[in-house]
Amino acid sequence: MDKRCFCPPDTKKNNGKEGYLEFRGVTFSYPGAEQPALSDISFQAGPGEITAIIGGTGAGKSTLVSLIPRFYDVDAGQIMVDGMDIRDMSQEDLRHKIGFVPQKAVLFTGTVAENIRYGQEDATDEEVAHAAAIAQASEFIGRMEQGYDSMIAQGGS
Ligand SMILES: Nc1ncnc2c1ncn2[C@@H]1O[C@H](COP(=O)(O)OP(=O)(O)OP(=O)(O)O)[C@@H](O)[C@H]1O
Ligand SMILES: [Mg+2]
Repeated sequence: MDKRCFCPPDTKKNNGKEGYLEFRGVTFSYPGAEQPALSDISFQAGPGEITAIIGGTGAGKSTLVSLIPRFYDVDAGQIMVDGMDIRDMSQEDLRHKIGFVPQKAVLFTGTVAENIRYGQEDATDEEVAHAAAIAQASEFIGRMEQGYDSMIAQGGS
């Protein structure tokens, strides 16, 4: 049964509401797995709220998160962002709504500024400094001899 919602274009922005996430009866199995990693998961998260996903190792926390940017698609149920099934949005629209901070930071060979600009190539120096401040990185970058122009080796060493 396909329960996807094909919303008309004028409701696409969900009346301007942003920041809503809803899982509706989501079931997902990795290809070839005997058991689903997630079975019939439903919850809602609203803007300004903090939602914690808690469970033992292998419970499916990372799997659940990876379904939101559509690294994998659900086998049953729906994931809604701002009231729209994520399968009905373009990848660009969907991923534009998501900020993802992984457990393990990834840094590339290049300067500090180049690493920060990875997310937005045309960011101004002010925007780079602002992003660093939000990440609470300004202080240690300030202590580096070359500041934002300091070179970083692969993996951040
Ligand atoms: N890429 C994959 N391919 C196949 N099975 C996977 C894959 N990733 C995870 N699994 C399996 O899916 C289940 C859920 O794993 P997941 O990594 O989502 O758990 P977790 O709650 O994030 O665990 P942890 O607390 O260790 O991070 C586990 O049984 C795991 O072995
Ligand atoms: Mg995990």
